[in-house]
Order: sequence, then C-alpha cells, then structure tokens
Amino acid sequence: MKHQHPVFAWFYELATAHERLVGAAEMRGRLVGKLDGRILEVGAGNGLNFHHYRRTADVVAIEPDPYMWRRAERRTRTVGARVRLLGGEGEALPFKPESFDTVVSCMVLCSIPDAACALEEFRRVLKPRGTLHFAEHVRARAPWAAAAQDAISPLWARMFAGCHPNRDTVGAIERAGFRVEALATGVGGIVVRGHALAV
Ligand SMILES: C[S@@+](CC[C@H](N)C(=O)[O-])C[C@H]1O[C@@H](n2cnc3c(N)ncnc32)[C@H](O)[C@@H]1O
Repeated sequence: MKHQHPVFAWFYELATAHERLVGAAEMRGRLVGKLDGRILEVGAGNGLNFHHYRRTADVVAIEPDPYMWRRAERRTRTVGARVRLLGGEGEALPFKPESFDTVVSCMVLCSIPDAACALEEFRRVLKPRGTLHFAEHVRARAPWAAAAQDAISPLWARMFAGCHPNRDTVGAIERAGFRVEALATGVGGIVVRGHALAV
C-alpha cells in the first residue's frame, strides 16, 4: 500500500493534461531534451517526460506506484526514444554501480520518503562524472514563506501522495556529494532546474 495512490494518479493525469499552458511541458523539454547515452529517470510518474527525450536516448525509468506506472507504460508505446519502464524505489535502485551516464529527477525528491538515501543511490548508479539533471519544487528562501510551507506540509503530504513542499533539495543534492553546475530558479524561487556532477 506504501506506493498506491489511485486518486492522486488520476488527479495528476488531469492536472497535467494542459501543462503546456503553464510552461511545464517546455520545462520538461529543457530538462531532458538534450540528454543522450544511458539515462535513468527516477519516479517517472505518468511518463510525461518520455516524449521529450531524443530518439537516440536509451532510457530506463522506474516508478513504484502501479497507478502511475500503468499510465506511464501506455506512454512508452508512443514515444521515439527507447524507454524501458520498471517498478522500484529510488532508495534501493535495482542496478549495478556505474550503470548510467545520467539520472533524471523531476518533481520527485519532494516525494521520496528518504531523499538522502535516494541521492546516495543516484551517485552509486552513476558512472564517474555522471550527472544528475533535476527539476524540483523546493523550500522557499524567504523565512515567512518557508514557515508557511512547514505549516502546510503535513496536510499537503496527505493530500498529494507524500509530497513535501518544504525540502531543501538543492542542499540535499550537495550534501550527497554532487557539485551543482547549473541552477535556474522560478516561481518566486520555489522551483529549481539544473544539473549536478557526481564528484
Ligand atoms: C509529483 S510525481 C512526479 C512524476 C513525474 N516525475 C513528473 O515529472 O511528472 C512524484 C512521483 O514520485 C514517485 N515516488 C514516490 N516515492 C518514490 C520513491 N521512493 N522512489 C521513486 N519514486 C517515488 C511517485 O510515485 C510519483 O510518481
């Protein structure tokens, strides 16, 4: 039952149906559109990044929620890139060390129960000097906004399948031993996109 959220999966499909209108589809293109080689996407959700990969990309995606997985699986059949979708959790990746050139994390480190553990796993499966490409919503820099995020977090997590709006995800990436090489912020500083080198 840990990763079974049928209502959230239904709601997410609905909420993301017109994401192009708010620039989210463009963000996905910028996140994954230039990646090549062997790529691992963690927590692929309903698979909305899949059609933004280049045709030459070799993508393995994992998604633990069967309700999301089912939707993502349908999308693997309509995209140009080779996408192999598996079950699995970010905290225990079923891959040998140094298996991937790139790990992609898109709106996922807010939801993974043990994000620090998952980031260690990302490093383990990345080849030396592999990169983590991320787009995440994060803790606000303004103290009053962060306090509001802290206050709303318990209810938010219950409503949105374990999502925590108040995580210092960029700090967690750095603490896990990545060097952040590019970082763009948006939506008043609570959405970040960038990439980080496994050092
Ligand atoms: C907000 S959705 C984002 C989905 C997708 N990445 C996207 O960009 O639309 C968060 C996803 O993280 C997944 N997730 C939750 N816990 C996870 C874990 N421990 N390991 C991997 N994925 C997880 C959820 O099942 C869900 O599909």
